[in-house]
Amino acid sequence: MLHHIRRDQLYIWPARTYRELIFRTEVPLKKEPIFFVSDPDALKYILTRNDRFPKSDYQNRLLKKGLGDGLLTADGPKWRGQRRAIQPAFKVALLKSLVPAMAAAIEAAVDKLDALPDGAEFDMHQETMLLTLDVLRRAMFERVAVDNAKMGWAVSEYLATFGQVDLGDYFSVPDWLPRAKHFRVREASKYFDDAVASILAKRRADKSPPRDLLQLMMEARDEATGKGLTDQEIRDNLITFFLAGHETTAIGLSWAFYLLALHPDIDARLYNGLRAGVGDRPLSADDLDSIRYAQQVFEEAMRLYPPVPMFNRVAAEDDDVAGHAVPKGAHIFISPYVLHRHRQLWERPNDFDPDRFAPDAAASRHRFQYLPFNAGPRACVGLNFALMEGAMAIAALARRFRFDLATGFTPEMEARVTLRPKGGMRMVLRRR
Ligand code: HEM
Repeated sequence: MLHHIRRDQLYIWPARTYRELIFRTEVPLKKEPIFFVSDPDALKYILTRNDRFPKSDYQNRLLKKGLGDGLLTADGPKWRGQRRAIQPAFKVALLKSLVPAMAAAIEAAVDKLDALPDGAEFDMHQETMLLTLDVLRRAMFERVAVDNAKMGWAVSEYLATFGQVDLGDYFSVPDWLPRAKHFRVREASKYFDDAVASILAKRRADKSPPRDLLQLMMEARDEATGKGLTDQEIRDNLITFFLAGHETTAIGLSWAFYLLALHPDIDARLYNGLRAGVGDRPLSADDLDSIRYAQQVFEEAMRLYPPVPMFNRVAAEDDDVAGHAVPKGAHIFISPYVLHRHRQLWERPNDFDPDRFAPDAAASRHRFQYLPFNAGPRACVGLNFALMEGAMAIAALARRFRFDLATGFTPEMEARVTLRPKGGMRMVLRRR
């Protein structure tokens, strides 16, 4: 079983989870209760009561070593104060100041693909991974002279080590990392710490600082206490944003282009809308309404292929969830993948239909029926950032190119912490 879990975490979700909304089983050998939950009301109950259903310690154990007490891994008062300080920086109005940095990174990716000949085969997933890393780097540190290659190396080293946590940790596989990895990541971590310290020092001396994510973090205040973030908290959160916002967004984009390739009618509607709405002009914050359909494509792609396919909670006390007695210590398994394809919740659950995310349709649905970003107090703080970035990247690429699947290629899902296309996403580029 451990072998299967390491390979594919969705493997342990029994077939009945797609038909039933909630049921109990047990961790094999350990006799600890597990509840598989896809009932939107029960999910609301669990996910809005962070103190009664905290994140499970197991999954955070290894991540914490790399991310320290950043938002993703902190708990209790440490988490609450930071969340109150950071959340306002991720409001749409402030994020709009990051649009030029996002657009520049996206345009660079378009130019790179434009250098390929028509009909060239390439790995879309490799490109979306580079694109989302570049977006984060530019959005975080605009106008800061960083050694891009070295910074890219440090972040990738980190991600390759701490991004690999999986359900093995959940089942108490010992807390180790291979020695060679340990050594490399320590070097990467040192480089990152030194770079952030020098960036912070330079920024403090800057009389007219740019409105980048670093600046928003430096100005962030917890309204309840007036406290800002310490340098250590800023560092922990910058690396957290790289880890939480890089591969997730890339995965959403790769599956979106896969689905567009399979649905030429939806691709044509997207393209025609973009021609009429934004044409060839550089994308700006004023265009976000005009590229709304691109955002719907992104949201619907994340329904079918949620970049975080499952997450867990644990019951801190005996509780009652939708009529089920949940004992203290019970594991709560939540899978956006299963929830988003549940037969009791969605019509034609396996069909790709971006109209499901037209504003009226989305507003009439249960809020806890669609959870690519989780919901409630521990929902993804980068949600608006990711939606903006996803819509802009789809719009900028789809107005220039059409992408077909490479002949004979069928992507395979690999469900670990994220839902990667295993072996990449082989596609063929066609100019419009
Ligand atoms: C499509 C892209 C993304 C997806 C699908 C996604 C998904 C998620 C999910 C499911 C969680 C909750 C995990 C849990 O409760 O166990 C989360 C948390 C988080 N995400 Fe994202 N994320 C995305 C992009 C981003 C971006 C771009 C950033 C930052 C720039 C970011 C930063 C965070 C942080 C800091 C948390 C922890 C929040 C807290 O616990 O207070 N994410 N994300």
